[in-house]
Amino acid sequence: MKISDQTLKLLQEQIAIEANAANYYLSVASWCKVTGYSGASCFFRAHSAEEREHMSKIIQYLNGLKIHAQIPATEQPPQNMESLEQVCKIALDNEKNVTQSINKIIDTAQDEKDHRTSVFLEWFVNEQINEEDLFESIMQKFDIIGRDKLALHEIDKILDKLKDTS
Ligand code: FEO
Repeated sequence: MKISDQTLKLLQEQIAIEANAANYYLSVASWCKVTGYSGASCFFRAHSAEEREHMSKIIQYLNGLKIHAQIPATEQPPQNMESLEQVCKIALDNEKNVTQSINKIIDTAQDEKDHRTSVFLEWFVNEQINEEDLFESIMQKFDIIGRDKLALHEIDKILDKLKDTS
């Protein structure tokens, strides 16, 4: 096998993390839609699709190594959504956790002199920088624009515009 058991285990776990992120964003999109945040709903639906692509990238990487990637069961996303700000804060925290888990796989691959996996994961490092920046900038909007109904309406419109960059 071209990668170690430990690196394979971490990549398999990363597939599950990406799948759970896709489900969380889809659940948020669903909540946003029925709560009146149509722009945010589009944004999170697009972001969910992006997480599925991340999952698919890892599956294809393993397939390229002739490894049958395991498709994991996913967790039910949290159902107790309280506010647009809360779901965005959870998204930012999730992205920070994803960054840590990507870094852990890279550390492991580098310890094992697995340059192939390190290079493959460079794309994810850049992606995580973008994702954290994106959600940090969204969180800033609540401080700058506000949290009253008009401000939330404005943030919803901004999220709609951001859907193509997510
Ligand atoms: Fe695939 Fe948003 O991390």
